[in-house]
Amino acid sequence: MGGAITGMRLQRGDIQDLLTYYQALGFEALPISLAAIRNIKQDVEAGTHGVGRKSLLEDLKEYIGDCQRCKLAQYRTNLVFGAGSASARLMFIGEAPGKEEDLQGLPFVGDAGMLLTRLIVKMGMRREDVYIANILKCRPPLNRDPEDDEISACREFIEKQIRIIRPQIIMALGRVAAQVLLEMPNLRITSARGHFFDYKGIPIMPTFHPAYLLRNPKDKILTWADAQKVMAKISSLTARRTHS
Ligand code: URA
Ligand code: URA
Repeated sequence: MGGAITGMRLQRGDIQDLLTYYQALGFEALPISLAAIRNIKQDVEAGTHGVGRKSLLEDLKEYIGDCQRCKLAQYRTNLVFGAGSASARLMFIGEAPGKEEDLQGLPFVGDAGMLLTRLIVKMGMRREDVYIANILKCRPPLNRDPEDDEISACREFIEKQIRIIRPQIIMALGRVAAQVLLEMPNLRITSARGHFFDYKGIPIMPTFHPAYLLRNPKDKILTWADAQKVMAKISSLTARRTHS
C-alpha cells in the first residue's frame, strides 16, 4: 500500500497540507467514511485495533452494495459478505455460499458449516473469534464451481477483507479457495494441504473443504493435523509479538 510515502515520516501538518491541496484540486470527498476515520482515531488513542476494522468492513459492505457485477446476482437470495471478528487472528476462506448460506446471508451455516464450527471449537476458539468468508459472495446455481468471470468480479472483495482484517493466518478451505488466493490454478489440495504458503506476507494453510470431509470422513484427521500446525503458528507469532 502507498508505496509513494514509504520511508517518509508524515507529520500531522503534512496531512492537513495534503487535504488542502486535494480540496484546491476540487476533490470533495475521500474514499472513506467519517465514521471509519473516527473509529481509527479511537483505535489509535486506545491502542487497540478492531473497531476501525469493523467500520472499514461496513464501508466495504456498502461499497459492494446490491452487487450486479457478475451474472450470479440474478440467482441470489442474499449476498454472503462474511462474518466474525474484525480483529480475528485466524481467517477461514471458503469457495462460495451454498443453499443455506444464500437463504440466511451468512457463511458456512449449512452442514459443511457445522463441521467447520466443530473444527473451530476443537481449535479452542469460537466462531465469533475468527473471521469466515468466501471467495464468491453469491451462490452459483446448483453449487457448481465458480467461473473465471465470477472470480474476477469478486476477488477484489476478499482481498480487501484480508487487507482490513490483517489476520495472522489464513486457512483456505478446499481447492478453489487455495487456487484463487495463491493464484496457482494447478494447485492440488491433496499435495498443497499441510504446508504454509504466502499470501502477501500472511501465511496461508490450504486444507480440505468441510463439504469434502463430510463425504470423506477418513480425511478429517488430515485437516486436524493442518489445524494443529496453524495453532502452533499462531502461538509462535503471538509470542514473537509480545516479546518485541
Ligand atoms: N461452502 C463454502 O465454500 N462456503 C460456504 O459458505 C458454505 C459452503
Ligand atoms: N477437492 C476439492 O475441491 N476440495 C477439497 O477439499 C478436496 C477435494
